[in-house]
Amino acid sequence: MADQIKKPIKITETVLRDAHQSLIATRMTTEQMLPIIDKMDKVGYHSVECWGGATFDASLRFLKEDPWERLRKLKAGFKNTKLQMLFRGQNILGYRHYADDVVEYFVQKSIANGIDIIRIFDCLNDIRNLETAVKAANKEGAHAQVALSYTLGDAYTLDYWKNIAKNIEDMGANSICIKDMAGLLVPFEATRLITALKESTNLPIQLHTHYTSGVASMTYMKAIEAGVDVIDTAMSPFALGTSQPATEVMAETFKGTEYDPGFDQNLLAEIADYFRPIQEDALATGLLNPKVMGVNIKTLLYQVPGGMLSNLVSQLKEQHAEDKYYDVLKEIPRVRKDFGEPPLVTPSSQIVGTQAVLNVVAGERYKMITKESKALLSGEYGQTVKPFNPEVQKKAIGDKKAITCRPADLLEPELDKIEKEMAQWKEQDEDVLSYALFPQVATEFFKYRAAQKNKIDPTAADEKSKAYPV
Ligand code: CO
Repeated sequence: MADQIKKPIKITETVLRDAHQSLIATRMTTEQMLPIIDKMDKVGYHSVECWGGATFDASLRFLKEDPWERLRKLKAGFKNTKLQMLFRGQNILGYRHYADDVVEYFVQKSIANGIDIIRIFDCLNDIRNLETAVKAANKEGAHAQVALSYTLGDAYTLDYWKNIAKNIEDMGANSICIKDMAGLLVPFEATRLITALKESTNLPIQLHTHYTSGVASMTYMKAIEAGVDVIDTAMSPFALGTSQPATEVMAETFKGTEYDPGFDQNLLAEIADYFRPIQEDALATGLLNPKVMGVNIKTLLYQVPGGMLSNLVSQLKEQHAEDKYYDVLKEIPRVRKDFGEPPLVTPSSQIVGTQAVLNVVAGERYKMITKESKALLSGEYGQTVKPFNPEVQKKAIGDKKAITCRPADLLEPELDKIEKEMAQWKEQDEDVLSYALFPQVATEFFKYRAAQKNKIDPTAADEKSKAYPV
């Protein structure tokens, strides 16, 4: 059709970040990535997600790699494609709230080392926790994308999403992402959600989902028909299961239509051929568990992200309470309700999950309350969409007054102090930030790095693999 209006769908490739985080515990190494990036750079992706989330922690902790060095190498290879990272708002890539000076410095250094698009989210969707990172990205001339953690519950109406989208636009973000960690967004709901968002904001909208519940590619189809601008996909050897829909499949689906991204299937096939042996190796060594490759319909039933389910199993195993699995699954929504119905994504997913395990294993609800649960109920992570259960809150923090301001407003600048603490290890400015996020893990890495230089064999830390809800 000559008069057909073209609206090619844009695609973010996740194989270098979320896909291997979701399927092989973030263990893809820089060496495994580098040989293929020349070809990936020719595809015509909107962006390649390659950094942030657990990549930083896993590089330092398990791979003994400097994550900053990986970023610089990727930047040198991707000459035409934008690099994208995931950023946990005021938590940066860590698990606590950082003072603004650390957040600003991290954003600045990420961009200086090669990041073009920063996807910023908060586990409570408290947009006050995103402001500093968004402003810092604006200041450095990068693309600031705000991601809304998608979840279900009474409070999460279309009006909720429309309002928050408008607020994000006013904040100065360049685009919005709906981040569906668990694959909860079903196809026809995607039509309603994307249509509603398009009414309330002019910002481009990106959709990020996981295949966990089996509906993801249909959800993308409906979202694209409703006008979504960008979708996240992964090259087929690292697609499906707890990862994203496959890049090749989505590209072929829209071939010859107004949404055709114009990708070369032969080029995509060559890239898939490169990644397939890496996937096969991971299967052979057990790093890739076939269990995560199928459909897990429980994510829809219990609305729990896949990574959280596997964490749960290992926590119960440690306590010899595997028979309590279904009790814990039932307890999770109850704890979530008591805690103001937050989305379940790092770190709220761990906080709610661990508390649910304790409630069941102890045989009495809130007999034991974790430090993190107390912090959440003190308002230290920000504001939840609904109020906390006052009885549970009182049990956790007594008569202490909860915080209602933006939590980072209470934090003094901390960069200088951190820099002094780690001065003996510093070889580059970025080391200060690695240490700020993961003091122990970074120190171990710095020791390893020094030992490598002195040709002394280091004893690599042998830690249990960790699953991260993404
Ligand atoms: Co994800």
